[in-house]
Amino acid sequence: MSAMSDDYRQLLDATIQHLEGLKSRGVRHVAVAPETLRALALPPAAGKSASANFKPQIPTAAVPSKIEPTISMPPKKSAAPVAPVKAVIPNLKVEIKSSSPEKAAAFTALREKALACIKCPHLAASRTTVVFGVGTIDAQLMFVGEAPGADEDEQGEPFVGRAGQLLTKIILATGLSRSDVYIANILKCRPDTPGQSAGNRPPTPEERATCIPYLQEQIDLIKPKAIVALGATAVDGLLGKTLGITKLRGNWQTYRGIPLMPTYHPAYLLRNQAMSEKRKVWEDILKVMEKLELPISTKQRKFFLPA
Ligand code: URA
Repeated sequence: MSAMSDDYRQLLDATIQHLEGLKSRGVRHVAVAPETLRALALPPAAGKSASANFKPQIPTAAVPSKIEPTISMPPKKSAAPVAPVKAVIPNLKVEIKSSSPEKAAAFTALREKALACIKCPHLAASRTTVVFGVGTIDAQLMFVGEAPGADEDEQGEPFVGRAGQLLTKIILATGLSRSDVYIANILKCRPDTPGQSAGNRPPTPEERATCIPYLQEQIDLIKPKAIVALGATAVDGLLGKTLGITKLRGNWQTYRGIPLMPTYHPAYLLRNQAMSEKRKVWEDILKVMEKLELPISTKQRKFFLPA
């Protein structure tokens, strides 16, 4: 089997695992864009796989094609069974479950508020969906990015485009899956680009300031043990004006009492394919794994080191 089809299979496995995770938590409906269904039916064209960018140095044994059993994080509280609370969100058919009914209800209320948000009228007018966040609200690890791009706006889920596929690959390389963590952005709406048919722009300071309360509340409710801030916008958005991502990455910061690891955005790794840059991000992730006391194999420790 070629490396490309290996990549494709791993992405499919990750998708299946994600869906199985949702199903095991009681989710019965998932919104899937027709484009996504078409993309799943066809292997990606050569050279277009974002995951390939993170693959070459990852020994396949470390990213098993069937990630089973998932190395899941230890539960935060007692594992005593608690009746899950379900809340169906009408437009995205997302069910939010948590071992804490109050937390699930508060998260549902927050989500509904964000989905109806029109505080930035220009973004409310241009968006297809509000991209609130994805994952488990009991996550011990949160990833925070910048803002939805075109793919995310269309599908209503953060990090599903090329950079997202690479983030998924990074998460899988830790032994976790997307459904074990929570992924959100500084901005919940795609920054508009009037007069342009394509392209992205970073959020303005005003947009950031308007939207950040949603993320703050998400973090306050989830209470992760660690946050990974992906790129300068995420770091600046959470920490305020900082030294810059190049100086900060790899050094623990604190956000509302929670350890925060700044690292490069996966989109940067798509632009700069140097092994040294991949290794930097991986070293940052290793620090996060250590903080969360996740098991780290010798192979994992060596990813992206010269042979
Ligand atoms: N880049 C981000 O920062 N967030 C997304 O959701 C997708 C791409």
